Order: sequence, then structure tokens, then C-alpha cells
Amino acid sequence: MTYENPPAPGAGAPEPRRLFIKSYGCQMNVYDSQRMADTLAPEGYVETADPAAADVVVLNTCHIREKAAEKVYSELGRIRKLKDAAAGDGRRMVVAVAGCVAQAEGEEILRRAGSVDLVVGPQSYHRLPGLLGRAEAGEKVVETEFPVEDKFDILSPPSRAATRKRGVAAFVTVQEGCDKFCTFCVVPYTRGAEVSRPAAKIVAEVERLAAAGVRELTLIGQNVNAYHGVGADGRDWTLARLLWRIAEIPGIARLRYTTSHPRDVGDDLIAAHRDLPALMPQLHLPVQSGSDRILAAMNRRHTRADYLAVVGRLRSAQPELALSSDFIVGFPGETDEDFRDTVRLVETIGFASAFSFKYSPRPGTPAAELTEQVEESVKDARLQILQEAIERHRAAFNASCRGRTFDVLFERPGRHPGQLVGRSPYLQPVQAIAPAALVGQLRPVTVTEIGPNSLFGALAAPEMTSVQRGREIAAGA
Ligand code: 5AD
Ligand code: SF4
Repeated sequence: MTYENPPAPGAGAPEPRRLFIKSYGCQMNVYDSQRMADTLAPEGYVETADPAAADVVVLNTCHIREKAAEKVYSELGRIRKLKDAAAGDGRRMVVAVAGCVAQAEGEEILRRAGSVDLVVGPQSYHRLPGLLGRAEAGEKVVETEFPVEDKFDILSPPSRAATRKRGVAAFVTVQEGCDKFCTFCVVPYTRGAEVSRPAAKIVAEVERLAAAGVRELTLIGQNVNAYHGVGADGRDWTLARLLWRIAEIPGIARLRYTTSHPRDVGDDLIAAHRDLPALMPQLHLPVQSGSDRILAAMNRRHTRADYLAVVGRLRSAQPELALSSDFIVGFPGETDEDFRDTVRLVETIGFASAFSFKYSPRPGTPAAELTEQVEESVKDARLQILQEAIERHRAAFNASCRGRTFDVLFERPGRHPGQLVGRSPYLQPVQAIAPAALVGQLRPVTVTEIGPNSLFGALAAPEMTSVQRGREIAAGA
């Protein structure tokens, strides 16, 4: 296209608008928030860390437990004050609620929080520029459809600069939604049916990330090991097949995936834990309960014995495997005996870490309708006992790392000057004195001390590479 009168540089370009995004809940929300920022960047939105200065505030919300959902409303109370202050300065602030609360509550959010201009569910983020345009023009907008088009085809990829800023460990969504319908869980309703992205699109996204310096990749999905996206050969690929393919991408040194369901741990995934060096010896495999009665009431589709069997097979394939899990205490009808079974499972398996939650009835889920709800005080007492057991095993696992040397991928400056912080293969944060130039590099570190939340270590003498050795031989060393 040619212009008869070319515009002066910058003339007519819209003023940059400042965008503040806050994520709650899971890693997929973190990933989605990044995609939203990437999609709005070409439209002239620049991210700010200060909500008071923002022209657009997006809260990317979580609906998994009542507490998480309620947090949004208290945050909206604070945002309302900022919005009023901005209006006092003659500036309009647009407030958007995204994520799973948006999907689950829709219009209701506009009724409860008058400051909200836009409600947008997770399947409509690719429509964000248009939706925000309408909200900026003064319309109250609610978009919670499950559109036919694939949002991933439309969402913009990150710029190289954005990827660099986010660091060397990145997430990529490979699968979204869930068809399992555990009776306590809102995910099948908020994220919809299980959908896998085609392998070629994931590979292209990872190649871009790797070219911008990403070294560690976590493939994410609500039920990630149910992945069955179409592969390069036109057939459905399993998660294991996808992991092998991604491991070939230059620059990608480490792979992880989360969150998995015990029913979908395929033989080839177990084999990958044995044979694929880039796949880290760490796995988050939620079990929820150790009682068969409760597992059945939860519609988990696995028993305690099934879980133990799959863990046994994983550990035979990869004896180093550090396991983590999720637990719910106080599911309706849970007796002391059921709860003891859960604690026994923790003692039997010895998780390296775990998350545990009090059951929270969620509107629209079958378990919320059950009459035998457990008293809050009982839930509190059980949670405390379970967390003590989990903490004992976590501390023991961490203590077992003292004196060991393993590779750490350094991610960013540490707490103190001269320190870097990175992750062990088992996902523990590791602090070590190391030059800043090592950010983005894997280095062997010997663990010297165990802190409450991280390990402390010292750089181990790097193994001489063959190139160095060749040089020294040539120099007569
Ligand atoms: N109440 C408590 N915890 C829940 N989770 C999911 N739904 C609920 C609920 N209604 C927990 C599960 C899941 C994790 C992400 O959140 O343990 O694995
Ligand atoms: Fe929720 Fe169960 Fe699906 Fe996990 S597997 S997302 S707990 S329904």
C-alpha cells in the first residue's frame, strides 16, 4: 500500500493504554494471562504492575473453591476505589473479570460488582480486543460462550522480548477442559469438554519459545495425560509421543507436565519416565483420597490399589521420581476411618510434596447436593493432621537431598546479592552463589543446607567438556 501523504510517524497512532492483569489459581490462568497480554500488545496495550495507573484491569479468576472465588469480590472492592479515583482524575478505568468465575457466574458478577464492565470466559480470550473496545465505549459486556473457532489459532504469540522477560521456564497449554466429572469439581463446567491442541501447533509454539531462550517447558492441561492431539502423521498422539517430539527441539533441556489423572497414565508415558532424559523425575498425580468408598463417591474412576499400582510402575521405571499430589479432606460422608486411609496412603507413598484442601461445596456439582456434609471443625482438624503428615514427608525428602549434586536450571537473581535461584530436577527452589551470567543455564549444584522453603547449594566443579579436555591435551596438560 502507498500513501499519497504519508502520515507523520506516530500521528494517528492510538495512545498506549496501560493494562494490569492479575492471575488467581492454577498455572493455566498464568498462561492465559500471558496470552491475553500478548493479544492486546499489538492493539497498543502496555502492561503495568500498578493497578491504580491502569486503563484496563483484568482479574483472571479461579472458581475451584469458594475461598478462591470470594477473593475476587474483595479484590473488586479495592479496584472499585481505584476506578472511582481514576474517574475523579477524569480517566476511565475498564474492569474485566476473566477466568473460571467469569464462566461460572456470568451476569451475576455485574449484579454483585457494579464496577465491572466486562465478563469474559476462558474460551473467548481471542475476542478480547473487540470485547474491550465495546466495554471502553461504555457497554456492559458478558461473553461466556464456547465459540466454534479455536482461540489458539487467533491468540497472538508472545514477542521475543515478552518471552525473555518471563524467564527461562515456560508453560504451554496442550490440552484444556476435562471429561472426568469428579463429583466435587467445577472444571468440566468452567473449562468445558476435554480438547487437545494439534501437535504441530504446540511444536511451533515451543520452537518460538526455545528460540527466545526458554530452556524448561511444562506442558499444561486440566487432564494433561489424556492428551490425544492430532500428530504430524495424521494420527492421534499420546502425551508421551508429544514429549518425545518436543524434546527434539533445540534449546529445550527439561520437560514437565501437569496435571495428570491416575487413570490416564499410559505405558508409553511410564516408559518415557525411564527413557527420555529431558523428562524430569517429578510428577504431580492427584489422588484426592486414600479411601475406596470416598474415591467411588468422588467418581474418581480409580481405587487406592490402582493408584498404588501406577505409582509402583512409575517408580520401577524411574526410581528417582519425586511425587506430589492433591488431597481433599471432609468430602461428604467421609468418616474417621476413611480419613485414616488417606493419612495411611501418605505414609505409604511418601510424597515429596502435596497440596491439601478442605472440601468446598461448589454450586452445580453433584457432591454439593449430598446431605452428609462434614462439619467445618472436623474438616479443620483433619486438614491439620494431614498437613502434618505431608510436611513430615516433604521435610524428609528435602533432607535426603543434603550432600547430593544435581543439575539446577538457574532462573533469576536470588534473595541476596550474588545469589541465583533455580529449580532442582524435583522442582525444589535452589539458592546458590553464582554469577548472573548463569541465568538460563543448567549447572551441577551440591546441596549444602535445607531451608524451610528452598534448598541452598554451591556450584559443583563443572565436569570438563571434551572440548576443554582436547585443548588441555593440546597444551600439554
Ligand atoms: N473442594 C476442595 N478442593 C477441591 N479441588 C477441586 N475441587 C475442590 C473442591 N470442591 C482440589 C482438588 C484438585 C485441586 C486442583 O483442587 O484436590 O486436584
Ligand atoms: Fe476436576 Fe476431576 Fe477433571 Fe481433575 S480430573 S479437573 S478433579 S473433574
